[in-house]
Amino acid sequence: MPSAKIYYDSDADLALLSGKQIVFLGFGNQGAAQAQNLRDTGIPNDKILIANRADAYADDAKAKGFIVEHDFEKAAAIADVLFVLIPDQVQPKVFNGSFVPHLKENVTIVIASGYNVLFKLLEFKSTQNVVMVAPRMIGSSVRSLYVKGKGFPCFVSVEQDGTGNALPVALAVSKVIGATKAGAISSSAREETMMDLLAEQALWPNIIMLFREAFNVLQKAGCSDEALCYEMWMSKEPAEIFERAAEEGFITQLKHHSTCSQFGQLRGALALDGVAARKHFEDTLYNQILSGKFSAEFSRLEDGLEKEGDENPLNELYRRADETELAKAEKRVRARLAGLLQ
Ligand code: NAI
Repeated sequence: MPSAKIYYDSDADLALLSGKQIVFLGFGNQGAAQAQNLRDTGIPNDKILIANRADAYADDAKAKGFIVEHDFEKAAAIADVLFVLIPDQVQPKVFNGSFVPHLKENVTIVIASGYNVLFKLLEFKSTQNVVMVAPRMIGSSVRSLYVKGKGFPCFVSVEQDGTGNALPVALAVSKVIGATKAGAISSSAREETMMDLLAEQALWPNIIMLFREAFNVLQKAGCSDEALCYEMWMSKEPAEIFERAAEEGFITQLKHHSTCSQFGQLRGALALDGVAARKHFEDTLYNQILSGKFSAEFSRLEDGLEKEGDENPLNELYRRADETELAKAEKRVRARLAGLLQ
């Protein structure tokens, strides 16, 4: 497999952003973090506009000294660089409806997630740049790492080179938000979306299912709810394992466990051939994700996801998940140990 190119601060030229009007559509997790980083890197405040509906996020932007525009059409018309940082499921309606008709021919549109580009849910003119600068961190970490003078992992790609200089602009955008400090990895909307959705739709569902079934078997064998919840996740042992996996190595971290545990884990993992899991992952990737089946289904649910109560399909899934023995037992344990858990 080819290695990905990694871009550093020295690959990017901030002069490309000089005098440009930067617009942030959204001031949430990512928007607030990226706009503050960009300003602290030296973009003048009067060259930054936060396009936001009137809500608590807009109030937050004003409180932090940013200029806020509620009229999206006005914001669209002046943008040289537009960061699209509202939730993925509302982007098609807001971006296509209020921004597309008013954007400049040579605007650079910056997305932080590949989903809507891969599934062609956003409309672009062929003269416009479309680049992805996708931090692999939640917004609060994008900000706190920047404040500490550190970088954060980030993917960067050019999805459409309308002006002929989309890559240098993408790198300047990455640098100005602090993403090239630790190295921004060259990627693509397709790669980012495949990895994201496969983890969300197959890897983590399997992990949830494995915890649920292990819980059921041990509960039937007489283990108490309290012991099980603590043993399996409330002690934060799994979080610690993943932290060490990130820091030291996925397999190397095993060396922190007892010899009996190391032997059990390695022997058990190597004995599982993974054929059924691989088939499930392949089926999910090709027949559910890349085929567009999931995105079509999710788009149809868009309105329902805004609703309250049982009409919201997400609430219905939560209701069913809450009926599993693991969830019911955890509720009992948390109620009983409320004081201890604070
Ligand atoms: P968020 O949920 O924090 O977005 C809130 C913002 O969206 C607010 O400014 C709010 O006013 C605006 N908004 C919400 N609904 C709206 C509507 N119907 N009309 C107009 N404005 C609306 O979004 P978040 O999590 O920052 O995600 C933004 C982008 O960043 C997405 O593409 C996401 O995939 C990507 N991303 C998010 C990460 C995260 O840490 N949450 C990590 C990496 C990428």
